[in-house]
This record gives sequence, C-alpha cells and structure tokens, in this order.
Amino acid sequence: MAMYKKLMDCLEGIQKKVCFQPQIGLVLGSGLGGFAEKIQVEQAIAFEQIAGFPVSTVEGHKGRFVFGYAAGVPVVVMQGRVHYYEGYQMSDVVLPVRLMGLLGAKTLILTNAAGGINETFQPGDFMMLTDHIATGVPSPLIGPNIAKLGERFPDMGEVYSRRLQEIVRTSARSCGIDLKEGVYAQFTGPNYETPAEIRMARVWGADAVGMSTACEAVAARHMGLEVCAISCITNLAAGLSKQQLDHKEVQETADRVAASFERLVTEIIKNAGKA
Ligand code: HPA
Repeated sequence: MAMYKKLMDCLEGIQKKVCFQPQIGLVLGSGLGGFAEKIQVEQAIAFEQIAGFPVSTVEGHKGRFVFGYAAGVPVVVMQGRVHYYEGYQMSDVVLPVRLMGLLGAKTLILTNAAGGINETFQPGDFMMLTDHIATGVPSPLIGPNIAKLGERFPDMGEVYSRRLQEIVRTSARSCGIDLKEGVYAQFTGPNYETPAEIRMARVWGADAVGMSTACEAVAARHMGLEVCAISCITNLAAGLSKQQLDHKEVQETADRVAASFERLVTEIIKNAGKA
C-alpha cells in the first residue's frame, strides 16, 4: 500500500540519522515554534532531509523534528507542521503525526493558533480542546485503511483523552493560567472564515476555529495514541471584531504569550511524562 510504504520509508530515513526514542510527541502551532529551542536538544532532522516527507511553506514554520528532553521527558517536537491548504493530500498532512507514533511516542500534544468564537475568550487566552468538529475538511483516514495502524471505523468518542485533560487543567493551575476549554472547528483555510461561517460554527457548538489539529488528532487516535490539544486564541474570529484578520496579528499574539505557553507545555510534559 502506497501510504504505508511512504511512512515506512520516512521512518527508515529518520532512524538512519537519529537514534532516540520519544515518549511524547509535540506539534507546535503558528508562532509557537520557539519552544523547540527551549528543550534540551539531542538531535534534529529537517523535513527536507527525509525523502518523501511533505515540506511546509508557510511563514513562521520551520519544518523539522527536534529530539530531546523537556522536563526530563524524552520528546519529539514537530516545529512547523504541514497544512491541508498548502495543497497536500490529507494523508500527507497527517504523515508527521503518524511518524511520531511510529517512532515510539504514546502521547501526542497538539498546539495551534486559533480564532476565538466563544465571546468569553480574549486574544492571548489558552483553550484546551475538549472535542472538535472536523467536518470542514476531509478525513485523513479516507482511502484504503492501513490496518497496521488501526481499524477501518475507529471510534472518536474521546479524541482528547479525559485523563490528559485533567493533567492539562492541573498544569495550567500550577502555572497560574486561567485555562479556557472548548470545541475546536477545523476549516481548510488559507482564507480566514466569513462572519456567516463563524456564526454557523457557533451554532454547531464551536468555541474556536483554525486550520489544523483536528485531522492530526483523528489520525493519532486511529493508531491509538493518547491525545491532548491546546489552542492559543490569537484573535477574535471573523465578524466578532472590527479588525480585519491577518497573519501578523496571529504571530504578534502568539509572541506575546510565548513565555506562558512554554511554561504550560513544559508543565504538561512533566506531568504527562510521569505515567
Ligand atoms: N481562523 C482560522 N485559523 C486561525 C484563526 C482564525 O481566525 N486565527 C488563527 N488561526
């Protein structure tokens, strides 16, 4: 099967260059990539060094796996994720997350920048995902099922592990962060949503909106990883403020809260890594 072979080729490509077994995989969202430099780095591999690997093109995305220790826990950090709007197949978009699992990570922490739909959210807030709406994008599991990874019709009743959610809450509390919680809706991008789309997403039960994460969480759950995810609310979603949406605002807000983001993620890794 083409996709499985591609995964195995990439895995082999990494394992030829890197000897490190991560316990936790971490995906860094827009503007949040600086965390990769804060860990105790052991090895790093640029995506373009891995044959067959989809390479990201967005500004602010570096594109590499960093292997090392955060809070003493062995982690693999994906700095610069791959987005569907870049033109990749969904199966390529989730390839890095699958690789993290195949490299040995049992836990996956996803992060992203998102627009706030819930009116109690302010730019700079962190929202822990309790669930998601991924109907705006194709499922990453479309196509022949890779039975070596998981089953054809996987359950999605608890995408974001209740156990990890409790760890995230405790970690936020010990960092003095007023953590928000809610449902994330994934749209394809790259355009921001219209105000009508945001009203629709709110009626559907979404609290935040973005262009990543849900598809990765689905692929990770398919292969049995335990997942948690955090959005950095970088802006109010379309129609909720007079401001036009732009990537600069997203970057600026993410930069402003980078230090608390890094403390929170480190604390989560410390607590999740104890298990
Ligand atoms: N919409 C979609 N994706 C985003 C947004 C938004 O408002 N902000 C940051 N990523």
